[in-house]
Amino acid sequence: MTRIDKNPNGSRTGNAVEVRGLVKHYGGPQGTRALDGVDLDVREGTVLGVLGPNGAGKTTLVRILSTLVQPDAGTAMVAGYDVLRQPRQLRRRIGLTGQYASVDEKLSGWENLYMIGRLLDLSRKDARRRADELLERFSLTEAAKKPAMQYSGGMRRRLDLAASMIGQPSVLYLDEPTTGLDPRTRNEVWDEVQRMVAEGATVLLTTQYMEEAEQLASELTVIDRGRVIANGKVDELKAKVGGRTLQIRPTDSAQLPAMARAIAETGLDGLAGTQAVPDEGLLYVPILSDEQLTAVVGLLGERGFGIAHIGTHLPSLDEVFLAITGQKTASVSDTTPEEVAA
Ligand SMILES: Nc1ncnc2c1ncn2[C@@H]1O[C@H](COP(=O)(O)OP(=O)(O)OP(=O)(O)O)[C@@H](O)[C@H]1O
Ligand SMILES: [Mg+2]
Repeated sequence: MTRIDKNPNGSRTGNAVEVRGLVKHYGGPQGTRALDGVDLDVREGTVLGVLGPNGAGKTTLVRILSTLVQPDAGTAMVAGYDVLRQPRQLRRRIGLTGQYASVDEKLSGWENLYMIGRLLDLSRKDARRRADELLERFSLTEAAKKPAMQYSGGMRRRLDLAASMIGQPSVLYLDEPTTGLDPRTRNEVWDEVQRMVAEGATVLLTTQYMEEAEQLASELTVIDRGRVIANGKVDELKAKVGGRTLQIRPTDSAQLPAMARAIAETGLDGLAGTQAVPDEGLLYVPILSDEQLTAVVGLLGERGFGIAHIGTHLPSLDEVFLAITGQKTASVSDTTPEEVAA
């Protein structure tokens, strides 16, 4: 395929990443369909959040887009290059921060970055300069000489991000960049990602956290079991889910259906998405405002329903699934209200 566009950052369509009908099987036709016909686009200069539970196919997608794994079917273009036909050119335009740290434990932070610079054909002088610059930028200057094995989880992740930026990529893949990090470190990583985007990078970010997607992404693609089950702007998806979810545990779970009906009958915006989940003895009510919250609680009180417990929290990935598909996911990633709020 010939490149006819002059745009250095992407394709003729304004998309830095274009994926069509991507399929990847592991273990033959009877095996795992890690990707089962995935389409997605990442517009230049934006962050696409790819949300999905464990095993959804996120890392497989990132590996294919990094030319590390070959797809069984479908096409993928990154920065105007075809993953199958132009892997060498493509690799020069991308940066990858994998789900599992890729730094050499025995080398110091500085040595890791210098080595990668040299591998990318920078001169000694340029590799040194770039290592110094990036260590400074990711607040690792003090730890520059320590072996990476002595770094904390957050420092490693920052070193990983720094490493993925040495070649000044135009497209960055961040595969669950903050899973396992404490809230403070997570915020630091988010700040860095936002800075990269402000400087013009295009980012494909996989995550299991709705909050992370909300913080960083302008658009979301939700995948489950290798298929795209929803996509759109963050606000659109959030509107489907409701801003927050009220969880109500009645004293008598036999009353769940009646409670759900009473709430739905109010006709208030969004409340039609109320779901009773008898297995859990819980009513999930998507609420869009404090007024709605007050109205719902007031209504249940007036109708004489006994309430054992009420809690609110931000949408978790499961609730996104619940709202989008109308059913709970098989692989429930138990996000507690505390984790979501953190
Ligand atoms: N090398 C492999 N060989 C066999 N099966 C694999 C391989 N890599 C992934 N799989 C399977 O493919 C599916 C998708 O895995 P993948 O790692 O892409 O999911 P993920 O969305 O990244 O999950 P997680 O959130 O746990 O990282 C899973 O069922 C997984 O077991
Ligand atoms: Mg993964």
